[in-house]
Amino acid sequence: MRGKGTSRRDYLKLMAAAGGLAATAPAGWAQEAAKKTMAAEEPPPDHDRRIQWWQEAKFGMFIHWGLYSLIGRHEWAMEMEGIPIPQYELLAKHFNPKLNAAREWAKLARQAGQKYMVMTTKHHEGFCNFDTKLTDYCAAKQAAGRDLVREFVEAAHGEGLRVGFYYSLMDWHHPDGALCATDEGARKRFVAYTHGLIGELMSNYGKIDILWYDVDWPLSAAQWESEKMNKMVFELQPDIIVNNRNGLPGDFSTPEQHIQAAAKGRAWEACMTLNDSWGYHKADDNWKTPKTVVNNLITCAHGGGNYLLNIGPKPDGSIPEETVSILQAVGKWTGPNATAIYGTERSNFNQHVYANFTQRGNTVYAHIENWPGDTPAEQWLSFYQPPSVISFGGFRTKVKSVQLLAGGKPVAFTQDDLSLRLTGLPAIAPDQPATVLVIECEGQPVMDRDYLRKNRPRFKAGIS
Ligand code: GLC
Repeated sequence: MRGKGTSRRDYLKLMAAAGGLAATAPAGWAQEAAKKTMAAEEPPPDHDRRIQWWQEAKFGMFIHWGLYSLIGRHEWAMEMEGIPIPQYELLAKHFNPKLNAAREWAKLARQAGQKYMVMTTKHHEGFCNFDTKLTDYCAAKQAAGRDLVREFVEAAHGEGLRVGFYYSLMDWHHPDGALCATDEGARKRFVAYTHGLIGELMSNYGKIDILWYDVDWPLSAAQWESEKMNKMVFELQPDIIVNNRNGLPGDFSTPEQHIQAAAKGRAWEACMTLNDSWGYHKADDNWKTPKTVVNNLITCAHGGGNYLLNIGPKPDGSIPEETVSILQAVGKWTGPNATAIYGTERSNFNQHVYANFTQRGNTVYAHIENWPGDTPAEQWLSFYQPPSVISFGGFRTKVKSVQLLAGGKPVAFTQDDLSLRLTGLPAIAPDQPATVLVIECEGQPVMDRDYLRKNRPRFKAGIS
């Protein structure tokens, strides 16, 4: 199964890949390089058990919410605009969102088909959305007068969703937040503060499913004492998974704003904004369409990864209207198409020009993202009869049956060793933004377009 860290097979593959370099490098170098790559991505113990639910969950909601939401100009406003700390701190006196705003987020997440939520407990600005004994710069001791993280945890659980905490190691507010890099006393204080806050987060809210570290500037993993940090986390939360942003590999990798599958065997999650900002940005109207979101989700599932999609609630906690309508539209697709996403395995199929694929066992789910419909060629090429053919070149495993996922209607098909052709399909896409075809095969499905390229009979077709 996936999520095993680097398996022996992957290790051997790595060795083989590195072997290509061995021709020009000193003996043993390639071996060392391969070992290093493997060690660099080795997850903490008991990884497979802890991460299993997450591998199946595929889709999560990220929430960026803090004092920056009041400014409404991206969560980096404090640094980008060089806002003096005493001025920025005043925001804490005005951050008083409506009670249980998180219930709205959780409801929307469930409707969208998201299975877990990850909320900023403390972003780079240094303000804690939770109650803490370690600073007064926290929601409970400022205008809000209550623990916003607790409300979040309860809201997520209320909708049956798993809970994750985002925590920024980088801190623009704490007196030792930058000094720690050059002053050992400051480092010790700041590391104690950081471990202390994380310890509180891991102790005061019951079972937490994910710890999502962010930006480890300005210290190294050794200076953050990240090994000790993770050890404490696992002691307090034996089932939790942690990401790779405290300088250690953690349980999963975190490509940001792009989708990139990690090496096979390594868990990964692409995090992405819905417009171009994580925190609420009033003027940012560069919203992704529901189709883009659905396609991204499919691409993540295709690569065996997860998709963590962000919302930036307004200062009162309400969700921007565009966000609501996009996620509701996404939910109209994830609901009926659930089996083609959740619990699927990393697919070995190449993407297609108008389709993408997910897989489970002997079943391939073909997600037709741009439904081909009628083609002008059918007028004069008998090859294209009947109208609206969907064809997958290099589909090498014998197919038993094909049906539309929505509605379950069987689809006729023909197959030879070069391609699988689905026929008798409607000219208009039965489902939007992607129509899923369930293709059941006789064995582990294989797509090999190389085979097609090499073995396609070449003959003179009358044109020379
Ligand atoms: C970056 C940004 C930050 C955001 C995060 C999400 O590290 O600094 O604002 O929270 O990405 O992945």
